[in-house]
Amino acid sequence: MASHTAPDSLTAAEWMALEDETQLATYNKWPIPLVRAAGTMVEDVEGNTYLDLYGGHCVAFLGHNHPAVVAAIKEQADELLFYSNAVYAPVRARASRRLARLAPESMNNVFFINSGAEANEVALKIARKATGRSNVVAVEGDFHGRTMGSLSTTWAHKYREGYEGAFGPVTFAPFQDAEKAASIIRAERPAAVIVEPIQSMGGMRTAPPAYFEALKAACLETEAMLIFDEVQTGVGRTGKFTYAQTIGVIPHMITMAKSLGGGVPVAALLIDDEVAATVGYGEQGTTFGGGMLAMAAVDATLRVVEEENLSERALGIWDALVEGCEARDLCYQGAGCLMGIHFGRPVAPIIAGLRDRKILTGGSADPQIMRLMPPAYVTQGELDRFFEALDEVLDELKETQA
Ligand SMILES: Cc1ncc(COP(=O)(O)O)c(C=O)c1O
Repeated sequence: MASHTAPDSLTAAEWMALEDETQLATYNKWPIPLVRAAGTMVEDVEGNTYLDLYGGHCVAFLGHNHPAVVAAIKEQADELLFYSNAVYAPVRARASRRLARLAPESMNNVFFINSGAEANEVALKIARKATGRSNVVAVEGDFHGRTMGSLSTTWAHKYREGYEGAFGPVTFAPFQDAEKAASIIRAERPAAVIVEPIQSMGGMRTAPPAYFEALKAACLETEAMLIFDEVQTGVGRTGKFTYAQTIGVIPHMITMAKSLGGGVPVAALLIDDEVAATVGYGEQGTTFGGGMLAMAAVDATLRVVEEENLSERALGIWDALVEGCEARDLCYQGAGCLMGIHFGRPVAPIIAGLRDRKILTGGSADPQIMRLMPPAYVTQGELDRFFEALDEVLDELKETQA
């Protein structure tokens, strides 16, 4: 019989092989087994350190292992690791209050869950009950997660294939085309319209505020609920706490996850007062949502976002990235600490070349767009290092093509 005891010390290749032995073969992982991280840097089992501009999958807006988050969860772990929503807890009261205070003014109702997909799922569920309708309008290019409802509203066929019809019906409206999207909403009269206001997997595509205003107007006209999926854009990445506040268009519900717990898994659904009034006792529930460890992480994360004005920092990082792109005639899109760079050629070898130079960046659904989701603490020196490495990689690729 195979031993299931992992040895203490192995090479990187051996750790990867060991993990592959028992992990479901569904991820295409980078060949770097990580053991620790701090700030913008992560370290693998062999002591190699990497500059993380992929930001831990868009989670590390505060950087990795922010001391305030680590201290908060250590302290909480000593006191009370977990109890469910069967009880009240001061740490939940603090986190919830802080979140509601940072959120758009009308959004005083917080529901904590565990993942971005789950947050979207709950928002869709609330909209169905509130409107008595089951159809949904989603947006071409969006990604909303892997659970059945979230998946059904995700655009890319590769994710939905084999699971069609699980939820819905769902009609997809175009991104950026306000008139067409609004006319689809008027024709469909859906329970909800769900939109990812910056399409991250789509390559950080943006739309002008007028597009979101048109969605909102059509939703108000048809009494549909407008849901912003701010799983990536939320928690200060785009200049304000939510992208809704950045563009001045406030939906009925906002979902957020990723950066919310500073690395601890947690998600939240923000609901405006009118919609919240449609939710009755016992209609929503989760065991782990709002658990104490997650709440300590949220409270600490939001305190740092506020006290260190990370939204403002995000705008400075955007400016520095823009400068680097413009100096190289590279097209870019996104906002704040979310940037897609268009290379006009496949980015996979560029990402690999950067990883060889110990810099982590990400791809997107568009094979020609690289995604950067850097921590708010990335320095000008680190961004210079990124652009210098990028120049080297592009030169090298030119040589191998010649
Ligand atoms: C915009 C967006 N929504 C939803 C999700 C799903 O979040 P989770 O993976 O936490 O379920 C993601 C995940 O990448 C996302 O980027």
